[in-house]
Amino acid sequence: MTGLSAALAMANDATPDVGDDHAQILEGLGARQKWISPKYFYDERGSELFDAICRLPEYYPTRVELALMNRHIGEIAHLVGPRASVIEFGAGSNLKVRKLLDGLDQPAAYVPVEISADYLVKQADELARDYPHVHVQPVFADFTRPFDLPAHPVTPERNLIFFPGSTIGNFARPQAADLLEVMKLEACASGALLIGVDLRKNPAILHAAYNDSQGVTAAFNLNVLRRLNRELGANFALEQFRHEAIYDENEGRIEMRLVSTLAQTVAIAGERIVFGEGEHIITEYSHKYSVEEFIVLAEGAGFTTEKTWVDENALFSIHFLAVA
Ligand code: AVI
Repeated sequence: MTGLSAALAMANDATPDVGDDHAQILEGLGARQKWISPKYFYDERGSELFDAICRLPEYYPTRVELALMNRHIGEIAHLVGPRASVIEFGAGSNLKVRKLLDGLDQPAAYVPVEISADYLVKQADELARDYPHVHVQPVFADFTRPFDLPAHPVTPERNLIFFPGSTIGNFARPQAADLLEVMKLEACASGALLIGVDLRKNPAILHAAYNDSQGVTAAFNLNVLRRLNRELGANFALEQFRHEAIYDENEGRIEMRLVSTLAQTVAIAGERIVFGEGEHIITEYSHKYSVEEFIVLAEGAGFTTEKTWVDENALFSIHFLAVA
C-alpha cells in the first residue's frame, strides 16, 4: 500500500489542528500525486457542511441507515441483550445512538470515543441529561489504536461497539481490517459490533451522492483549502479549484478531488506548491463493499456475522457481528 492510501485512510487519526500537523500537509502537497487527509475536513464549518450533506436528497447513506435502524431496532436489541455498554467509535450525530439507546434493554453505559474534545463533551452532556440511567463516560482517544475503557457503576453484561455512517469506508481496506481488530479488542470476549457499511451499487447513484446538485459536497471539499488559508497562512484562490468526485468501480471507491482549473503556484507555510492546469489533489476515499466482501473482512479480524440487514434497494447495510 502506498503512503498516499495510508494517509488518506486515516480519517480520524490525529488532532484536527492543522497548525500542529503542517508537516503532513506539506508532505501531501509535495507528493507527485497531491493529497490532503480527510481529517482536515472537519473544522466548525466543515462539520456543519457535513451535517448538511447528510440531509441532501442525493446523499442516501444517512437516511437509509436510520430507516434500517428504525425498522430493525427490536431485533437489534434482542441480539445485543440487556445491560450493554455501547462504545461508539467517533462521536457523530446523536440521532443514531439515541435510536439505539431508546431501543436497547436497560443499556448500562455509553462511551463515545473521539479525539476532538469539543464535540465529544457537548454530545456526551446532552446524552447524560436525556439518559439519566445510562452511565455516559466519554473517552478522548485516537480510536485507531487500542485505548483503555472506563469502569462503570453497573458492570455491563457485554460491550457493543457502535460504528455507524460507513465511516469504515474512509479507511483503505488494510486499515479497515486493522480498525476492526481494535474493535474486537475493545469489545472483549463476549462483545459485539454494530456497524453501518455503504454498498457497491450503480455508479450513477454514487456519482449523484458525491456531486450533489446544490453544491454542498463541493463546498465541503473546497472548505479544506479555506482552512489551510486560515490556519497555515496559505493563499489558495478557491475559485481556481473545482470539486470532483469520481467512482472507481474496480477499487470500489469514491475518490474526492480538488482540481486546479489553471496552472498556478500556491504559497503555504513557507513552501511554494506548483499546480499544472487540471492537476488534482485527492482529499478523500470512500470505499464501498459488497455484503460478502465486508463479511470476509470482518471475519478475518475475528468476528462472526450474526445478522446483516440491507434495505430493499440494496444501497446500505448494517451488520451485527459477535467476537468469534
Ligand atoms: C464521513 N464519511 C462516511 C462520508 C462518506 O460518505 O465517505 C464523508 C463524505 N464525503 C463526501 N460526502 C460525505
